[in-house]
Amino acid sequence: MTVGRDVAQALISAHGSPLYVYEAAVLRARARRLRRSIGRDGVRWFFAAKANGNREILKVLREEGWGVDAVSIGEVLAARTAGFTPAEITYNGNNVTDDELRAVAAEGVHISVDGLPQLRRVAALGLAPTVGLRLNPDVGAGHHHHVITGGPDAKFGAAPEELDEALSIARDAGIVIDGLQQHIGSGILDTDPWLAAVDVMLRHAERLPDLAFVDFGGGFGVPYRPEEHPFDVDAFGAAVTPRLDAFEKRVGRAIEWRFEPGRYPVCESGTLLVTVTAVKRTSRHLFVGVDSGMNHLIRPALYDAWHPIFNLSRPDAPTSVVRVAGQICESGDLLAVDRELPTPQEGDILAIGNAGAYGFAMASTYNLRPRPAEVMIDDDGATRVIRRRETIADLLG
Ligand code: LLP
Repeated sequence: MTVGRDVAQALISAHGSPLYVYEAAVLRARARRLRRSIGRDGVRWFFAAKANGNREILKVLREEGWGVDAVSIGEVLAARTAGFTPAEITYNGNNVTDDELRAVAAEGVHISVDGLPQLRRVAALGLAPTVGLRLNPDVGAGHHHHVITGGPDAKFGAAPEELDEALSIARDAGIVIDGLQQHIGSGILDTDPWLAAVDVMLRHAERLPDLAFVDFGGGFGVPYRPEEHPFDVDAFGAAVTPRLDAFEKRVGRAIEWRFEPGRYPVCESGTLLVTVTAVKRTSRHLFVGVDSGMNHLIRPALYDAWHPIFNLSRPDAPTSVVRVAGQICESGDLLAVDRELPTPQEGDILAIGNAGAYGFAMASTYNLRPRPAEVMIDDDGATRVIRRRETIADLLG
């Protein structure tokens, strides 16, 4: 999904380039689709705000009945200012400081600890009567090895063998471990690894005497390349539901089932609009230089991620194979490598799709270049700036 040519041109005239643009209708549609996938009571959806922490995005998801999954005090406060109550926010930070744990607890937000060291610290600080525990289910999956967060190489969670020790640390400190949490990785397009992790989790969850919730994390993938298939949300829902039903029957009570997707609801709602600033042929390549780059969308450079790109200004021009390069002084600053595009010319507007998740959220001010503005297109087609463009003065302050 990307915005069309006329809308893009009007937005750039009004707000400048480059520009992050979000479509509320797409965000709502994806959020609803996930919620519909599991048609039973006791399921709660928390948006992983790390994918996009813009307060106005969070507000739309709040209207759609979602909570927020935060991993920092910053994300907790973003959710609070977007109107979420403490009970609508989950927190699971890793390698965090005592100060952060204190601040999260002071906000009244429930904490899931990342492993035994953090559990011991929460206990020593006397911060909370109940905590969740993140488990590494020894199953990992994801679109790139950087984003596989379960399995033997992951830094996250406690090992299942540590569960008894965790329970005894908690008991000694008068804390109740009321839930288990996991996240096996990101950008998962097949339901199989997901379901395998659900099964492992449910096996261990039975060992918790005071289990109130199980949080399966996020990871629902979105297709970026045309040949990729979407995550089969309905098949997933159909496969998970009987597992949850059977678990509740076994333990004889209702459990709260939580999911924390970040990418799925927001990814396809976002487009990064950029403007061509130079077209240069070298001995090997045709470089299309744009007024953005890895500072605004780092995913291609960091993960070799492929984002759809459209030349909105001349969609019907004869094509060339090009490298879309940014303004950053690194050769790795490529938004697309050897991509066939209607041959761009200076001044053309390119739309980079699937930029709503981990786009602005991972943007930096590298090379002292300000970050773009963000604009929301509301359900009625009206547009509004939801984050002003950063200025150089902001960076020098
Ligand atoms: N819950 C936890 C504990 C997580 O660590 C993550 C993502 C999520 C939920 C949400 O995962 P999602 O549904 O978005 O896959 N920057 C990378 C993705 C890193 C995700 C890290 N954790 C990218 O651009 O692909």
